[in-house]
Amino acid sequence: MQQTKIILDEREMPRQWYNVLPDLPEPLAPPLDPETKKPIDPQKISAIFPMSLIEQEMSDKRWIDIPEPLMEIYTLYRPSPLVRARRLEQAIGTRAKIYYKDESVSPAGSHKPNTAVAQAYYNKIEGVKRLATETGAGQWGTALSFACKMFGMGCTVYMVRCSYDQKPYRGIMIRAYGAEVFPSPSDRTRVGRLVLERDPQSGGSLGLAISEAVEDAAANPDTKYALGSVLNHVILHQTIAGQEVKKQLHMVGDDPDVLIGCVGGGSNFAGLILPYIPEKLEGKKIRLMAVEPQACPTITKGRFAYDYGDMAKQTPLIKMYTLGHGYFPPPIHAGGLRYHGEAPIVSHLAKLGLVEARAYFQNEVFDAAKLFLQTEGFLPAPETAHAIKAAIDTAKEAEPGQVIVFLYSGHGLLDLSSYDAYLKGELKDQAFTSEEIEQSLAECPQV
Ligand SMILES: Cc1ncc(COP(=O)(O)O)c(C=O)c1O
Repeated sequence: MQQTKIILDEREMPRQWYNVLPDLPEPLAPPLDPETKKPIDPQKISAIFPMSLIEQEMSDKRWIDIPEPLMEIYTLYRPSPLVRARRLEQAIGTRAKIYYKDESVSPAGSHKPNTAVAQAYYNKIEGVKRLATETGAGQWGTALSFACKMFGMGCTVYMVRCSYDQKPYRGIMIRAYGAEVFPSPSDRTRVGRLVLERDPQSGGSLGLAISEAVEDAAANPDTKYALGSVLNHVILHQTIAGQEVKKQLHMVGDDPDVLIGCVGGGSNFAGLILPYIPEKLEGKKIRLMAVEPQACPTITKGRFAYDYGDMAKQTPLIKMYTLGHGYFPPPIHAGGLRYHGEAPIVSHLAKLGLVEARAYFQNEVFDAAKLFLQTEGFLPAPETAHAIKAAIDTAKEAEPGQVIVFLYSGHGLLDLSSYDAYLKGELKDQAFTSEEIEQSLAECPQV
């Protein structure tokens, strides 16, 4: 029988995260203080982040040990399988090999717990009692609720209103883990009330939900803020997945030609590709492909510039591909990909030409999800389906024997209302026009 699932033994799980910062050919531009426009003093962000995570954010150590209490929680669902999608290959008639790294096997159903448990742990050991966060589709909120429960902490989630309405089951799961969840804009924060005054029907955005969570954390001394993507330390924690992929492909004697991931803030994609960056820099031929929605085309149509991470301009300025911090993407069903910015690390690699990007409309993405479901049997999250679409398109053009790996970032079992809309032909294909982009980018700060 041909091998389909490549499973690592628990004892082979990576015991360190890989930090790409010391290996970058050019250093990242530093985060700036929004008031002085000078590199930010780490003390200034210690009101919202614990020192150990701030240190990881700027660390020049290539390998960072994963603490034992975290390894214990990781083993609830790690190592995750690498699966050869043979029936999908057959259906599209490719002679390339398609593998997917299945991060949907975590308790929350996505890759997000890889960093959620790490962030909860470091906050816990520094005495923090509660974490506040935002969530788009609800995957990150679920992951952090799970992680906080594992370490006996409280958790407050601001969930983007349009997803809160589209995906009620995520909210229920968050509450079942013992956390509290509010639709954003909410009346609990100054910025939420401001937006509600202007537009009581506002569907919200990730940038706005971040502002609400940051405001909550800054106002409460026992509370800190946790971000599910974008930042260097978040991406660091996700590198466990890419390291496992390396070991798993090695077990079957394969080497990747193309690595693919969907990008919201960039964390699952980066977790997959970063462990391959040293080889790529040494000349290995490997394509690294980031996939985004046409409705939020951050890398493909955005600008590489300093911008705020949130709508209310409370975060440091970070240099990244951005569509402008005020951008409200249309309420597409891949809620986790509706972020105006992109991780500085991923942006930097794209700017250097090491990462390529493409964008798709949601109907073609759901077509790919349906094909995957009907061949491989599993129902992907709408975000993940972007990676599937790109893997299918890439495999159709690939040489026989080429190895394509994509990150299966989450299952879609709580996204059935989105599938319902798709099956009824109700999904709209929305793109962000050049005029809208110019308008939104005009608000980027002059640095
Ligand atoms: C299933 C899934 N995939 C992908 C993403 C995008 O996030 P990131 O780009 O940080 O991996 C999300 C975000 O919520 C998600 O829930």
